[in-house]
Amino acid sequence: MNSYTVQIASQAHFDLAESICNEMAESAKARGTGIAKRTPDYLQEKMSEGKAIIATDDVTGEFVGFCYIETWQHGKFVANSGLIVKPSHRQYGVAKAVKSKAFELSRSRFPDAKIIGITTSLAVMKINSDLGYEPTTFSELPVDDNFWKGCQSCVNYDILTRTERKICLCTGMIYDPNQASPKPESDEKWIFLKNLADFTQLKKIKEKLLMPFHKKGKSK
Ligand SMILES: CC(C)(COP(=O)(O)OP(=O)(O)OC[C@H]1O[C@@H](n2cnc3c(N)ncnc32)[C@H](O)[C@@H]1OP(=O)(O)O)[C@@H](O)C(=O)NCCC(=O)NCCS
Repeated sequence: MNSYTVQIASQAHFDLAESICNEMAESAKARGTGIAKRTPDYLQEKMSEGKAIIATDDVTGEFVGFCYIETWQHGKFVANSGLIVKPSHRQYGVAKAVKSKAFELSRSRFPDAKIIGITTSLAVMKINSDLGYEPTTFSELPVDDNFWKGCQSCVNYDILTRTERKICLCTGMIYDPNQASPKPESDEKWIFLKNLADFTQLKKIKEKLLMPFHKKGKSK
């Protein structure tokens, strides 16, 4: 794999917006999930606002990773959304580098905001956990309908509505700057989900409870 550069995206990256959108759509298709439709225009808007992080291949200039910042409730909550890494570049730490930069950007632009996310991805939970996020109940996430609109195209949306947004297959995570403890030492990392077996077990229990008629659930 060639070396890559992670930076705050700008207008110089506008021409990569379309391939990023395509990769997001392909990846959602492969995972069997729905996904909030992002358009190249929307990603370009984020780039021009300085609210997107991009990783590009140093040799080809192609995008290899991306995510952007969204805010709710007048900046009270911030999320680093739309994380995507090109399949050929996965498992090399690209997502970790992109999310770290997005976290740094979120902290500097919105120092008082709670940084939040919902996901079923173990990789994302692991990265978030290393950054200081903790698991949280959905009641601690924004009440703003616009936040939950992002879930509408997920195949499991009926669970979220059925439970009145109390629970779904995703785990909510939050970094609260007012309660943040110092970053854990490297050997103490990944406390929240000590191992894959715990997570898999938790996911199975959730699927049994929330999807009793489905053999296997897929989610974002
Ligand atoms: C999820 C995704 C962003 C991860 O990107 P990546 O660049 O491969 O992740 P990284 O290499 O930075 O891995 C970060 C950590 O997660 C772990 N990890 C990566 N993929 C994993 C997987 N499939 N299962 C379990 N752990 C995984 C890595 O081992 C690493 O842990 P470490 O810090 O202990 O080494 C990428 O697979 C992707 O784009 N998927 C499709 C889109 C998606 O699911 N986005 C997230 C929506 S919430």
